[in-house]
Amino acid sequence: MQHTTNRYDFHDKRAAYADLARDLEALLAGESDPIANTANTAALLFAALPEINWAGFYFQRGTELVLGPFQGKPACVRIALGRGVCGSAAERRTTIVVPDVHAFPGHIACDTASRSEVVVPLLSAERVLGVLDIDSPLPGRFDAEDASGLERIALVLLAATRLPSPEL
Ligand code: SME
Repeated sequence: MQHTTNRYDFHDKRAAYADLARDLEALLAGESDPIANTANTAALLFAALPEINWAGFYFQRGTELVLGPFQGKPACVRIALGRGVCGSAAERRTTIVVPDVHAFPGHIACDTASRSEVVVPLLSAERVLGVLDIDSPLPGRFDAEDASGLERIALVLLAATRLPSPEL
């Protein structure tokens, strides 16, 4: 199996995310392990998406998010629900696009190079199992098409994967 970045042309974001979702489905086919599948999803996204510096997961554990598989610089390990962009997306159960992280109250700066961010909650039967977080060094890097494209990616991951339950 080979995955390269140059097959995705993000000049047409909708088409690129559709290709990415199809490739992720193939990449995860026949495997349901949460570490393996979130690690491969983070690797695929990090290689495919232009102008990003972090792509990865946090899993909900009780009232905190705990760092999962990712690509990029080492990141903060525990984020309380309601804190930062990740904790806010988990608490509100909705995708959050932040064009300028410096303007987001309580933003947690793991990599000072990050300027914009998108966080998609991983929802199963109304429960938040975790979040997908993508950061960029460019301000305003993510728009509504990135949000819906990444929500689609999250659905592909959720359908294939037995993510751990958030109860401690
Ligand atoms: N910036 C995030 C923290 C996670 S790191 O960016 C990987 C936030 O405010 O939730």
